[in-house]
Amino acid sequence: MAGNWKMYKTPAETNAYFEAFVPLTRDSGHADIVICPPFPALATAVAAAEGTAIQVGAQNLYWGREGAFTGEVSGPMLKAAGCSHVIVGHSERRQFFGEGDAEVARKAVAALDAGLTPIVCVGEKLDDREAGRTESVLMTQIAGALGAMSAAQFAALVVAYEPVWAIGTGRTATPQMAAEAHAIIRRECQRLFGDEAARLRILYGGSVKPENTPALMAQQDIDGVLVGGASLDPQSFAAIVNY
Ligand code: 13P
Repeated sequence: MAGNWKMYKTPAETNAYFEAFVPLTRDSGHADIVICPPFPALATAVAAAEGTAIQVGAQNLYWGREGAFTGEVSGPMLKAAGCSHVIVGHSERRQFFGEGDAEVARKAVAALDAGLTPIVCVGEKLDDREAGRTESVLMTQIAGALGAMSAAQFAALVVAYEPVWAIGTGRTATPQMAAEAHAIIRRECQRLFGDEAARLRILYGGSVKPENTPALMAQQDIDGVLVGGASLDPQSFAAIVNY
């Protein structure tokens, strides 16, 4: 159960959040919980999560180790800061910052090299869905991001399906639509990596709320959720985690 805070919350707000969230999830051993704050709040989140089962992830990274790349942050830096995960290829990165599948692939491998678990995001846009291109878009994104990986690399990552038209819009994919997309993703991973695909965790993201989580999580191929807006409130994210 992963929360993507996007560009929200200062370090002080992060502390306040964890004060409320930690007691609400102390007994939530059924799930792995990851919170992904913006870079300046990572150290605060790592400190606040100490002694709990909550893990901390970043929202982006660059594939270089270090160097003259103004404004970028590397995988080893995130690892050293206490992160366990990093979101890669979020649709907002693709849409607003020009990332394509080739960058996503390099970033995912860089994350793995640094010992981080990449949460690799894929998802179709509204016009793709309306034109019946959902399956081909997902297959292209999966093959483009993961296709050159080894089986061991594939085994160490998480995929998130986030239909772009469902992000922040209040329009959730129906559990059925999400399940179909997850099945497409698993099938493509099966083609690339064989039986290891059965163990892949695929998260659903896009207007996940406490109310729609149980029906999403009941779908066979939905192994977790990646939550934006509803993860910003500790009560609502705890209700999602404890669905
Ligand atoms: P919302 O939950 O706000 O729709 O965002 C989904 C998302 O993009 C998570 O990465």
